[in-house]
Amino acid sequence: MKKIYVSAQYPGEAFERLRKEYRVQEFLGERLPTRAELLEGTAGSIAVISTVSDKIDKEFMDLLPDLKIVSNCGVGYENVDVAYATGRGVMVTNTPDVLTETTADLAWALMMSAARRVIEADAYVRRGDFKCWHPSLLLGQNIYGKTLGIFGMGRIGTAAARRAAGFGMRVIYNNRRRNVRAEKETGAVYADFPELLKESDFIIVSSPLNDETRGRFGLREFRQMKPSSIIVNVGRGPIIKERELAEALSARIICGAGLDVYESEPDVYPELLKLKNTVLLPHIGSASAETRIRMIEMAVESVELALGGETPKHLVNPEVLGQVG
Ligand code: DGY
Repeated sequence: MKKIYVSAQYPGEAFERLRKEYRVQEFLGERLPTRAELLEGTAGSIAVISTVSDKIDKEFMDLLPDLKIVSNCGVGYENVDVAYATGRGVMVTNTPDVLTETTADLAWALMMSAARRVIEADAYVRRGDFKCWHPSLLLGQNIYGKTLGIFGMGRIGTAAARRAAGFGMRVIYNNRRRNVRAEKETGAVYADFPELLKESDFIIVSSPLNDETRGRFGLREFRQMKPSSIIVNVGRGPIIKERELAEALSARIICGAGLDVYESEPDVYPELLKLKNTVLLPHIGSASAETRIRMIEMAVESVELALGGETPKHLVNPEVLGQVG
């Protein structure tokens, strides 16, 4: 039987159908394979279901002469050398849409936790410090009626913007190009980047990582933001310069941050760990049980289609089709 490698353990029964025709080798457990384990484990595979943490590069692909598809279980795929895969005739797919609402929920969870100091307040109660109600206790700031700035008005940005209606917020956004559909759906108004920085009370970063977005937020940008503002990142870590964010937060250049992604995951810039005005999560944007199952089902479907000679629905390198026999 031909081999399919799955680099993580997933909930649900998504592999049952595949097992009828292929040998499915999963990397079981609560951690991901090391590089060496990944290279060894995938040996002989015709398909790999990867996570956004697996580096799928030239070295990886060169070890797999029969590889037909890399099905990345995640919407982001900057971990895959797509150009090299295309040159090699390897299809690359991702799992868009199914995680949009779940990730937008988490952006809001971060925003609300940072604004209302939820994590600090929880720790306060657990420490036994809650002795009496006090008018000055753990004062945060309102979300209702404020201005939400979205950096990256794609699917997740649009979903985050849609939620703002319930909070009576004004929504502005900055994006590579105007997103008229999102404007119609959410009432968001396009702003240039300096305007976004200046006007927003909250900024949600939900853009993909590319040459234009890498390092887009640093001290220079934080200085243009309101001192009361809060920045949330559910996009990709390297969009924000972490060291400069820590500096801006400790100097109160901005008020708070909520991060789900980091510059070099799983490492977090140590100064951020010391700050109270920062909510830090371990990249769980899409981590609801229902969504995780839908993601892996989508990743499996891409493998089935590719190996069955059909075009997977979420092919990120359609140029490859001319080369696949
Ligand atoms: C994604 O889908 O890209 C998430 O960040 C990880 O699953």
